Amino acid sequence: GAEVVINGSSSPAVVDRSNEGFKRNIQPASAKWRHNQTLSLRIRKQILKFLDAEKDISVLKGTLKPGDIIHYIFDRDSTMNVSQNLYELLPRTSPLKNKHFGTCAIVGNSGVLLNSGCGQEIDTHSFVIRCNLAPVQEYARDVGLKTDLVTMNPSVIQRAFEDLVNATWREKLLQRLHSLNGSILWIPAFMARGGKERVEWVNELILKHRVNVRTAYPSLRLLHAVRGYWLTNKVHIKRPTTGLLMYTLATRFCNQIYLYGFWPFPLDQNQNPVKYHYYDSKYGYTSQAGHTMPLEFKALKNLHEQGALKLTVGQCD
Ligand code: CDP
Repeated sequence: GAEVVINGSSSPAVVDRSNEGFKRNIQPASAKWRHNQTLSLRIRKQILKFLDAEKDISVLKGTLKPGDIIHYIFDRDSTMNVSQNLYELLPRTSPLKNKHFGTCAIVGNSGVLLNSGCGQEIDTHSFVIRCNLAPVQEYARDVGLKTDLVTMNPSVIQRAFEDLVNATWREKLLQRLHSLNGSILWIPAFMARGGKERVEWVNELILKHRVNVRTAYPSLRLLHAVRGYWLTNKVHIKRPTTGLLMYTLATRFCNQIYLYGFWPFPLDQNQNPVKYHYYDSKYGYTSQAGHTMPLEFKALKNLHEQGALKLTVGQCD
């Protein structure tokens, strides 16, 4: 079949930190957006050459045992031992086994969601993916509540839960975990050594309090496979963001994919300031170490224009 144009240019991709290039509003295009089923299927097939979301979503119990040594993906020289707790929380079968959904939402964490009124629309999708345990209750109107899978980088424990320094923070995290109510909690435990204790704390909390979540720990090969796929399409990503990982995985089991909260720019389309995260108290952008978000965004925008996915970066009707 014909090549899928994702990068959209033959010149080497450059990191664009400004809003330039997005002045052409995405909104008018989105009004006449139509899903391209043929293209979506072609992308799914292409990605399947690199990874299989059903398998790579999580390491399974049968493949590891307590005491096994794992080299961190980003810190090859550092290792961790598979603890008894981690072993207990590994799923026996893939949480995505034989799963297929008509439409899926992937909710990024950009402040562009604030005042979007997208909550209701997001919640109508069959499968809703969220990132990094982002709060929903207080933002339900704009981000919705439904959560079928939520990711949790270990750094979230530090950033949002004060490294569980006291009982109050432990209780806060516990409440958030209880609120997941049976959904999938996806913890990249093998990426970087920094998260070692944090992953252990969370595992312990889940077991001790019998929290009703389905834990998943991405396979060791997922990251390289995702990079490989995008590289083949001339999108040179050093370290894919959580959002891009989720899109890449979702192509396997979602017919139509709708993205919300993807907007890695400090100004919106009307030149109003945007918070980096919708739940941040302050405005302001810190550069994201290792990420090339605007580059990813450009790739996603191209896919939007071809009907392979739908990006919403403004208000919902
Ligand atoms: O784990 P990571 O730091 O990548 O993610 P996050 O800051 O919790 O946000 C979740 C995802 O939303 C990111 O991985 C991006 O794909 C997307 N995002 C975005 O497109 N624009 C922003 N301003 C913030 C997040």
